[in-house]
Amino acid sequence: MSIKTAIVNGVLTIEIARPEKKNALTRAMYQAMADALVAANDDKTVRAVLIQGQPSIFTSGNDIEDFMASPPRDEEAPVFQFMKAMIGCNKPIVAAVNGAAIGIGTTLLLHCDLVYVADDARLAMPFVSLGLVPEFGSSLIVPRLMGQRRAAEKLLLGDPFTGEQAVEYGIANSVLPAGEVVNYARRVAERFNSLPPTAVMESKKLMRRSTEEELLNTIQVEAEIFGARLRSPEAIEAFQAFFQKRQPDFSKF
Ligand code: COA
Repeated sequence: MSIKTAIVNGVLTIEIARPEKKNALTRAMYQAMADALVAANDDKTVRAVLIQGQPSIFTSGNDIEDFMASPPRDEEAPVFQFMKAMIGCNKPIVAAVNGAAIGIGTTLLLHCDLVYVADDARLAMPFVSLGLVPEFGSSLIVPRLMGQRRAAEKLLLGDPFTGEQAVEYGIANSVLPAGEVVNYARRVAERFNSLPPTAVMESKKLMRRSTEEELLNTIQVEAEIFGARLRSPEAIEAFQAFFQKRQPDFSKF
């Protein structure tokens, strides 16, 4: 199993552990993370959730091979289950990001409550380069956080950005030395042990209330277009190019 979960000292840790494939996320991994998050909602021993990757990589996003073989078709798909569980999680979610956070690796950070990035973190949302479109609310949240102009660089051109830039844009709280980020994020997550849990949960809900409907509507619209794009010749060319280790050729489209 490439997802390790453990509940220690009030914190559910979800560790993405598939370094040989740069922590690319398969359906089984999404489902494991979704199940852990759903269980955390009703588990009184869990006061916060910590999501972390490996020292060299947070995640390279969707496993492209798995994605091509079994594209997500509806809300039953594990990737939807996972993102639904992220958005519906009533406990605070803290993320610790080392190395690259690509595609859904960056998108999922938009739905965390607290995000700490290493000084070697590199975030990117290269959906367009893959023939796809932004997903899970990123087309709404990213322009709001950083403004249309910068969002166009990140979402249309797919430009990567650093941990420091992530802080500047409001995606992350702070940058830490690579060797310290996980421990720092864990200590932050553990602070929820000394706070009143119902007040924390109600406050989290209130902070999201005014934008919830708009977010869910956006996710639905994005998902329809994303699903169609996955089967498009543009996406197929992009995915094949990735595995053939060559540049994609979009000149014929
Ligand atoms: N899906 C499936 N396999 C992936 C993957 C992904 N998202 N990301 C990496 N891998 C695999 C590679 O195919 C390679 O497998 P191999 O050893 O069997 O050839 C292995 O992981 C190592 O990846 P590699 O590209 O050689 O490592 P790198 O250090 O040169 O680059 C990344 C790391 C993360 C920059 C690069 O792998 C990358 O760009 N991945 C794709 C990211 C992406 O487009 N994600 C969005 C998906 S929607």
